[in-house]
Formats: sequence, structure tokens, C-alpha cells
Amino acid sequence: MRNQAEGLLKSQPRIVSVASGKGGVGKTIVAVNLAIVLAQRGMRVLLFDADAGFANAEILMGITPKNTIKDFLQRKISLDKVIFQTPYDVDLISTGMDVEDLIAFNLEDKTELYNDLYRISAEYDYIVFDFPPGFNEELERFYAGSDHLVMVTASEPTSLVNAYTFVKLMTIKGVDPDGFHVVMNMVKDMRDGRKIMDRFISVITRFTGIPITSTHLIRYDMLVKDSVNRQIPFVTNRKTAQPSLAIYGIADMITKRQTVKKLSFFDKIRAFFGVG
Ligand SMILES: Nc1ncnc2c1ncn2[C@@H]1O[C@H](COP(=O)(O)OP(=O)(O)OP(=O)(O)O)[C@@H](O)[C@H]1O
Ligand SMILES: [Mg+2]
Repeated sequence: MRNQAEGLLKSQPRIVSVASGKGGVGKTIVAVNLAIVLAQRGMRVLLFDADAGFANAEILMGITPKNTIKDFLQRKISLDKVIFQTPYDVDLISTGMDVEDLIAFNLEDKTELYNDLYRISAEYDYIVFDFPPGFNEELERFYAGSDHLVMVTASEPTSLVNAYTFVKLMTIKGVDPDGFHVVMNMVKDMRDGRKIMDRFISVITRFTGIPITSTHLIRYDMLVKDSVNRQIPFVTNRKTAQPSLAIYGIADMITKRQTVKKLSFFDKIRAFFGVG
């Protein structure tokens, strides 16, 4: 039976942030394929490309959105014109700049942006953010507003140290998402990878106390590179390959965990930026 809380939740999208301590570990690959799998499961999904970096979501999907958030702010075009319908049943918004750059725009423009984003957000079940790597004050606000944080790391020591620092900063700053998912990508030996993951999680639990909702391994696989080169996300045509199965696993954990929101993402962000 549907209760009132469920009715209220309907109009608020779940926010999924894909983040990492270090660059080039596979955030965009995870964000794009995860967004597509959620859409394949009947969810209304918006993918928000908040990274102006080179190998971004539009390249992975082989599309070229006409407008970006930058156009919205600079040329005053409507937000509806910034939303691009991809062939994968996922809507895409490209910022055309880093989240950090957003801070530079004036309050009036930003207020309009947040209001418009808030208006359109009701049309989605999930908003998946692909962020630039790292942890800073601006990104922290977005992470803090998320329902699910998907942290991607590689299995080599430098990446793990960065990932650990990322988690440590999260705890220090009080960022406490309802779902915290750890994805270890580009794993060459799955058995070793599982061991490294287990050790990593035990260190995180011991030294930060943060509860981990789920852990996932993605194999190092040429099909991932191929999918980047061909600009066709692998979950669409390599459905039974390990990287696809891993993405289904992340989607399972995200859809399974229905969180109860106290304050909506956009309310939090508006409060953080002092707009509204
Ligand atoms: N599982 C994998 N197997 C093989 N290659 C992979 C795998 N995952 C990622 N790659 C390679 O690594 C590259 C970087 O991945 P991706 O762009 O998703 O990283 P990112 O974390 O988003 O990087 P950035 O920090 O620059 O945004 C991909 O273009 C691909 O070539
Ligand atoms: Mg990226």
C-alpha cells in the first residue's frame, strides 16, 4: 500500500553522484553506463555532466548537445534547450564548464538556474552527476546533497591512497550520503582485486567509521576501451560482459535502497550557495 511518504518521494529525484579522488579512473564510464541501465529499467534519468574534461559523457555516447549550462548563463537560453535527449532514453545536461566555474556567475543568474533545475528535476526519478575528480568545497556541497555517492578508484596504490583521502575528507566534512558505493575499476586479476577491496574497506571502516553500502569490481577489459573508441556505451551491446554485470550490480544497490529525504538536493544546494 502506498503511504504518504512514498507519495511525497515520487516528486523528488534520487541524486547519484559519481566521484573519485584521482582522475582517469573510470567515473565517466560508470556514470554513463549506470544512467543507461537505470533508464533501461524504466526510470526517468537525467545525466548531468559536470566535468568539462576531455573524455566526457557526450563523447562516450557519441552525441553533441547544442547547448550547455554555460549558454544558459551567458546567452540566456531556456533550460529546456539545454536538455539533450540521447538515443539511450537518458536526458543529458552538459555544463560546458567545471562546477567550480559555476561559482563565478552572479547570484541572480544562479538563482534562476537553480529554480529551473528544481522545476525540471521533478520529471526525473534519478539524476546522475559525473563530477571532475577530487574533493573541494564546491564539490563537497554537491556530494553532501547526494542520496548515493559512487566512489570510483583503481586498484593500484596511488589511486587507493587518493580514494582513502577522499573518504577521510568526507568524514571530516560531515558528508554522509545514505548510500556509499565503492567501485574498483580496471582490475586485472579479479581474485587479487577482491582481496584488495576487502582490505581497503576494512581500513575505511576502521579509520573513518563510514558505513559502506556496497562494493563492486570492474575488470580491466578491452571492450571498455572499444566502447570509448566507438562511442557506444558497453551496456547497450555487451550485456553479459563483466563490466556490464558490474554496472547492473551498482544499479541494483541504488534502486533497492529507497532513502527517505529530509531536504531535497536542490534545497540543500541553494542553501549552500545562499541563493533562492
Ligand atoms: N574497465 C576498464 N577497462 C579498460 N579500460 C578502461 C576501463 N575503465 C576505464 N578505462 C579507460 O580509462 C579511460 C578513462 O575512463 P573515464 O573517462 O571514465 O575516467 P574518468 O575518471 O571519468 O576520468 P576524468 O577524471 O578525466 O574525468 C577510458 O577512456 C578507458 O580508455
Ligand atoms: Mg570523466
